[in-house]
Amino acid sequence: MEKLKAHNPYAMMGDYDRAYSSFSFKDVEKNFDWSKTGKVNIAHEAVDRHVDTIGNHIALRYLNDEREEQYTFKDISILSNRFANLLKELDVVRGDRIFIFMPRSPELYIAFIGMLKVGAIPVPVFEAFMKDGLLDRMGDCDPVAVVTSDIVKSRIPKEEVKSLKHVIVTGQTSGNEISFNDIKGKSPDFEPAWLGLDDPLLIHYTSGSTGKPKGVLHAQRAMIGHYQTGKWILNFKEDDVHWCTADPGWVTGTSYGIFSPWLNGVGIVIRGGRFSPKLWYQTIEKLKVTVWYSAPTAFRLLMGAGDDLSKNFDLQSLRMIVSVGEPLNSEVIQWSLKAFNQPIHDSWWMTECGMMVISNYPTMPILPGSMGKPFPGVEATVIDDNGTILDPGKVGNLALKKGWPSMMKEIWKNEEKFRKYFKFDPWFISGDSAYIDEEGYFHFIGRVDDVINTSGERVGPFEVESRLIEHPAVIEAGVIGKPDPLRGEIIKAFVMLKDGANEGANLKRELMDFVKKGLAAHASPREIEFVKILPKTRSGKILRRVLKARELGLEVGDTSGMGDN
Ligand code: WT7
Repeated sequence: MEKLKAHNPYAMMGDYDRAYSSFSFKDVEKNFDWSKTGKVNIAHEAVDRHVDTIGNHIALRYLNDEREEQYTFKDISILSNRFANLLKELDVVRGDRIFIFMPRSPELYIAFIGMLKVGAIPVPVFEAFMKDGLLDRMGDCDPVAVVTSDIVKSRIPKEEVKSLKHVIVTGQTSGNEISFNDIKGKSPDFEPAWLGLDDPLLIHYTSGSTGKPKGVLHAQRAMIGHYQTGKWILNFKEDDVHWCTADPGWVTGTSYGIFSPWLNGVGIVIRGGRFSPKLWYQTIEKLKVTVWYSAPTAFRLLMGAGDDLSKNFDLQSLRMIVSVGEPLNSEVIQWSLKAFNQPIHDSWWMTECGMMVISNYPTMPILPGSMGKPFPGVEATVIDDNGTILDPGKVGNLALKKGWPSMMKEIWKNEEKFRKYFKFDPWFISGDSAYIDEEGYFHFIGRVDDVINTSGERVGPFEVESRLIEHPAVIEAGVIGKPDPLRGEIIKAFVMLKDGANEGANLKRELMDFVKKGLAAHASPREIEFVKILPKTRSGKILRRVLKARELGLEVGDTSGMGDN
């Protein structure tokens, strides 16, 4: 594959090799107030710090089918102070967990910053989750409060989560719920809780291949990585209009939907509502988006919507496009060169990383099909199953040397899961397989485990299987990711039914709906196959890799551990 010339050779990072050999994250600490005061709080650095300088700049532009609003940094500072005062009156204290469960809206962002000011730990979860999905997450970290909206609040398992004392609602309230509007009567002043760099920032739940979702706890120090990757990858300048299309229920939607731009004094765009190619192009045109961070599935859907559509919009404001979450195929980059007159830059990271760690930089030639090179200050490599570093071209485990500033602090209440990532200390094992070519570009191969990546969203097969077997007609289920040209992977379930259950299209639809209603829409299988028997290990574990191999028509491989099945 031919390399494309650097998109913006004059961008801030300058020559990649030079930056890589000379940069240290220590160099950027002077950009934060805490480097002088010793008082740490990301909400201060991302919002309050700007009030005296760019307080009147637009921090947030919100758009959905009914609302269109703008907030300055000063507005966000004051409103989040009011929210922090509300929490204080409710006796929320430093370290308390607070869930955020609502569709994207300005209130979500105001509440988020307000919680951080109190020193509470926000736990944002995607609005598509249903009761079981919420219960798994809430039951793990015992929140004292949840901020939600009248549209989704009925799914919150209030009875089951004993720690939950306060339900703060935007829109219609009932019973002893607290209205978000109550913030109007609160003081606009608030002194943030002053923390240390290693104190908690937030928790994102994410899925592994086994067990329930894990709570990835990040630390305040993550802001160092958010800040610098914004400068050098997204190439932020103060007058930029940044649109990160990810929901804050996922790490991309917080690290790059909130922190990275605001730490850099850059305004964000929030588009509410569902994906639609027309509305997305309209958003870029209307709000004059300059920096756009999105995912391959979205780009492929836009590509599929055709050039006739994109030609109707003025998209010339765009000057930097970056992608994350799934492999970015070169066809999409080629399309982008035509549709937007510039390439899309791939970036690789994961919830546990907290920031982009491998990327294509505006100053570096892009090799289509490659994820790029490690961020300066981050050491990345590929190691085999014994922890030995492999030569270029050899496929193995993608690993990062621990100690980059945004690396997770712990897995909530699960030391064992945390330690598993570091079995070859000092290397963090990502769970992805990859290789590095002779020129140092990293190439993605796949997941090593059974984790599914559908439309860039990470789904644990265990969660889906557990939900399926709650259905009265189901005995057992095995769930895999099946390759899909549009979505990367789709969720496919192999289901063993009870005797006498009525197989057929209706039952398939019912099961899909059952997962959607109980767990989450994005975790519902798109394909279901009824089987008489599921392949298992002797100890009774379902062999998903055998299901996958069969599905792909590949050699099933060594099945000696499979027992009688
Ligand atoms: C998994 C992490 C924080 C980023 C959003 C997803 C896959 C991520 C790429 C890429 C191929 C990618 C990996 C990774 N992934 N970026 N550029 N090319 N695969 O975060 O939900 O924690 O998922 O997404 O498999 O392990 P996540």
